Order: sequence, then structure tokens, then C-alpha cells
Amino acid sequence: MAHATEHTDAESHADADFSLFDPRFRADPYPGYTRLHAAGRLRRTAFGAWISPSYRVCSQVLRDPRFGRPELPEDGRTRSFLGLNPPDHTRLRRLAAKAFTPRLIEGLRPRIEELAEQLLDAALGQDGAQEQGNVHGQDNAQEQGEFDLVAAFAHPLPVIVISELLGVPTEDRDRFTAWSDTLARALGPEYLLPPDALAEIDSTRGQFEAYFRELAAQRRVQPTDDLLSALVAVCDDGEVLSEAELIATCTLLLIAGHETTVNLIANGTLALLREPQRLAWFRAHPEAAPAVVEELLRFDPPVQLTMRTALVDADVEGVPIAAGEQILLVIGAANRDPEVFADPDRLDFSRAENTGGSAGGTDRHLAFGLGIHFCLGAALARLEGQIALTAFARRVHEPELATDEVSYRDNLILRGPASLPVRHRRG
Ligand code: HEM
Repeated sequence: MAHATEHTDAESHADADFSLFDPRFRADPYPGYTRLHAAGRLRRTAFGAWISPSYRVCSQVLRDPRFGRPELPEDGRTRSFLGLNPPDHTRLRRLAAKAFTPRLIEGLRPRIEELAEQLLDAALGQDGAQEQGNVHGQDNAQEQGEFDLVAAFAHPLPVIVISELLGVPTEDRDRFTAWSDTLARALGPEYLLPPDALAEIDSTRGQFEAYFRELAAQRRVQPTDDLLSALVAVCDDGEVLSEAELIATCTLLLIAGHETTVNLIANGTLALLREPQRLAWFRAHPEAAPAVVEELLRFDPPVQLTMRTALVDADVEGVPIAAGEQILLVIGAANRDPEVFADPDRLDFSRAENTGGSAGGTDRHLAFGLGIHFCLGAALARLEGQIALTAFARRVHEPELATDEVSYRDNLILRGPASLPVRHRRG
């Protein structure tokens, strides 16, 4: 790409200083993003796609109708609307959006609060049940406890919420958690996956489809007030929603509800544990939960990366992008773009840049994307994050991270700890 002088230089470094596959990158991608920023707003990667860490480029491309999802392969597979362009995207998103109005989401608040309290009761050993974690030493067994924040709190909370909303039996949780984990790895482009992953993903997709097909058949006979029943009714009513699209929509919602909010809660807790004075401030100011959650979403976003393909010959920052070429938009880097965020590596709950607005595309961080694919569950995720982190701050006394090294889940797109042992004072 000899046309753009400032980018040519960056390209010649190829990916020497930035690798998505490097385990050090998984543990902490942010120093790599700083180098990526220094190399320019847009560059070509060694594997051919373009990559941009720039807030300006990411937000432009996400709103630009010349960019979208690649052509459907002729594999007979039905994609969810996350993977579709208008007009199919518009039609299917509109149907699902009926379940995500601000009023309906706000109505879930009491249930989410109740769940958060129950899960923390169990994690802290305050429900009469056996505590989930280990107890440290004989002498201080009474004073200290430990639990895995991911397994005991960050994961079950959003999973139960989305299961109840959709109408998926929570008893089946272990089954679809494993499927969901596998399919979440399929969110990225196939060329970024290890070859043996593809077969596993295909077979998991089949199991998930069969599972939803059966549930849909049950709701057809015996409808309830859940989202699945509502979608089944739409599907049976006319030509708006096919059975395959129904299944793809449910799978998307279940995975999106599973795999992202868990990371908001876990990444958010981790950031707070690493800066105890900010956690103390938050504990004293629970009314700041919305601002705290926005800053945590900016600081360490659950979705680090998304992609767009040029649908026609296009240009970005004066660089021609040919139809069919793909751009990786690094949300995690855009959220720390020094052109937009002052002192971007600093966690700052009073940041003015985050108060740009709410759903609809005026947020200043890009954690929920932008444009037509802006996260449908953003209001739900925010509510869950606010409730979970407030409850954690209030109920877990003198919490400390009980490991020196946090291990991350194996996923290129989604970033979050596999487990997060937290030690705390009892009482
Ligand atoms: C789309 C992030 C929670 C449902 C997206 C996108 C992002 C995102 C970045 C856009 C992807 C792209 O443009 O390629 C997040 C984060 C969450 C979260 C960070 C938690 C903190 C949820 C929840 C749900 C949900 C709880 C629903 C239950 C969806 C759906 C889409 C989407 C359906 C596709 C929208 C479309 O294509 O029109 N999300 N999400 N998300 N999200 Fe979320």
C-alpha cells in the first residue's frame, strides 16, 4: 500500500510489535495498543486485513453504510442479525428490540437486585450453605473467606437474567454455558481461529439449534409470557420470521447475554480491586454507579474487537479500501485513544468524555459499538453492571485479589478473566 505515506512506514513494521496471539497480549493488550496508536490510524496486518486502533476511524467505519458484513457463503447456514446487513438486519432487529425497550429493562431491576443479593449470600457463606471458596488457615478461618467472583457471581447473574427473559430453563445452564463458550469463539473471523476449532463450532451450533427447536416446539403448544413464546407467535403469524431465523435470534441473544456482561462485572471488579482507593470512593458513593460503569466499560471493554468489510470500493482517512477487504476495529484501543481521552490509561470516574449520552450512538466510548449494530442489550448490560458492582462494593468487606496472575479466557474478541479469586473479611 504505497499510497499513504504515513501508513507505509507503519506497515513495514508488519506485526512485529503487536500480535493478537501472543499470550502476553491476552493478559494485557494495552501496551500493544499504545504502540498501535503510535503507528498510525490505519495499517495493514500481516494476514491481509486492515486494522485500526483509532477512535475516529472506528466510529466512522461503524456508521458508514459502505461497510458491513461480508457476503453470505453458500453454506445454507442462517446468520443472526448481528451478522446481517439491511434490510434483513433491520427486519430481525426490530422484532427482538420489542423485548429490550427501556421500560421493560427497567422492570427487571428488582429481580436483578434480588439475584445479586442471593448470589453474594452464597458466595460469602451467609445463606447457611457451604461457602464456595477455600478458607485460609485455621487461625483466621473465622475472619477470612475466599470465592471465585466469576463462577459465583459475574457469570451466573447475567446468565440467569437472559435465560429468564428468553424463557430458557435455568436448570439447563451448564449445558448451554459450554456451547455458548464454544460459539463465542466463533464471533471472530475464521482465519483467526485454530483449524480444529471449526469442526467443534459447527457441531456445537447443531446442538444449540436442536435444543432451541425443541424449546420452540414446546412454546408453540404451551405459550408463556417469555420472549421465546413472543418470537414463536411472530414466526407462526406470517412471513416476517422464519424458523431458522427464530433459532438464530435466540442463540444470539443467549450468547450475547452470557458472554459479555460477565466480563463487564469481572473486568470491572478487577479494576476496582487494583485501585482500592477508588473502590472505597465508590462504596461511599453508590449513586455514582452509572458513571463508574461507563468508565469501566471504556477502560477495559468486554468486546475488544469488531470487524467490518467494505461492501463497495471505499476510502478511510484517504486510504483506498477495496470492496471485500476487511478492517479490524479495535474497540479496546479506540477507548484509550489519546486523541479523544485525556490520560487514557487512567481510570477516572469523573471523566467528562463519557457523559456524551446514552444508547443511540452518542456515547463517547465504543464498548457497545455504534451505528446500526449498536448493542441491543446495552441498557440491560448497564443495569446488570451497576447493580452487580454496587452490591459487590457494599457487601464484600476488605476485598483483595487472591492471585498474582489473572488468567484470561481463550477468546480473541471477548476479554475477561477465566476466574477471579477474591479474599475478603467475614462479617
Ligand atoms: C451487539 C457489546 C451485552 C445483545 C453488540 C456490539 C457490541 C456489544 C460491541 C456490536 C458488535 C458489532 O458492531 O460488530 C456488548 C457489551 C455487553 C453486551 C460490552 C456487556 C457489557 C449484551 C446483552 C445483550 C446483547 C446483555 C442481550 C441480551 C446484543 C445484540 C447485538 C449486540 C443482539 C447485535 C445488534 C445488531 O447487530 O444490531 N454488543 N454487549 N449485548 N449485542 Fe451486546
